[in-house]
Amino acid sequence: MINRFKSFLKDMRQDLKIIKSGQNQLWATQKLQSFFSEGHFIPQTSWSLSPQAIVHCLNIISINKPKSIIEFGSGATTLYIAKLLQLRKHKISFISVESDPQWKMEIERQLQLYNLQDYVTLILAPIIECATDLRYKDQETWYDVQILNPVIKPLEHFDLIIVDGPFGGSTPFARYSAFPFLEKQSSIDSIWILDDTEREQEKEIIREWQRQSGLHKIDYKRYTVMKNNKQFDLAPYRIH
Ligand SMILES: C[S@@+](CC[C@H](N)C(=O)[O-])C[C@H]1O[C@@H](n2cnc3c(N)ncnc32)[C@H](O)[C@@H]1O
Repeated sequence: MINRFKSFLKDMRQDLKIIKSGQNQLWATQKLQSFFSEGHFIPQTSWSLSPQAIVHCLNIISINKPKSIIEFGSGATTLYIAKLLQLRKHKISFISVESDPQWKMEIERQLQLYNLQDYVTLILAPIIECATDLRYKDQETWYDVQILNPVIKPLEHFDLIIVDGPFGGSTPFARYSAFPFLEKQSSIDSIWILDDTEREQEKEIIREWQRQSGLHKIDYKRYTVMKNNKQFDLAPYRIH
């Protein structure tokens, strides 16, 4: 009898957690909806950063006013970030790296629909065999750095780095290389966001980045933020 009651309570707690998480995502969705004018539709799929994670990125951009942003993996994030930069008239450097030519074309089309094309530089970089100094364990591939280097290497520093690509199934530890690639162009003031850290390999990636950078990490439900402990807490509103 007691065991059944304990199990019932456990299930209730789990259900409550799911309800709270759903409410948090709904709150973030509403926040994002108010952002474009009426009649817009921004495609968001299960491959997109969650609404909460997108609001987190926008909070960082709005408060910290980064001078330079880079994201790996274009999509809804690209559109929302470009829109915020347009609204705030921030003419800062925002680079979005994409590996799929068709997806890049689609994002370009979406950007044009909202007149956002001047607020982001989209780079098409296919996923190819990865140099040994960028690899982790049995990782085999990453974006083609010969294409990335001419655009990215002249830039001094990245303040915000969003890593949501390459897609997880492309190779083991597919997203690891972002850190060694940008290590010299980042600092203790850079903020790193890695999505899908509920997966074991992404968990390991962020632990490894943290070990190498000495930065602090905060896990959210599906993503992790790595940053200097002294920076503001810019996590979106949520019911705990
Ligand atoms: C996790 S997605 C990036 C999502 C993006 N940051 C967003 O918030 O929408 C990583 C890569 O998967 C591919 N991709 C994006 N959406 C997809 C979809 N709905 N189905 C299949 N592949 C997708 C693109 O090549 C993208 O760069």
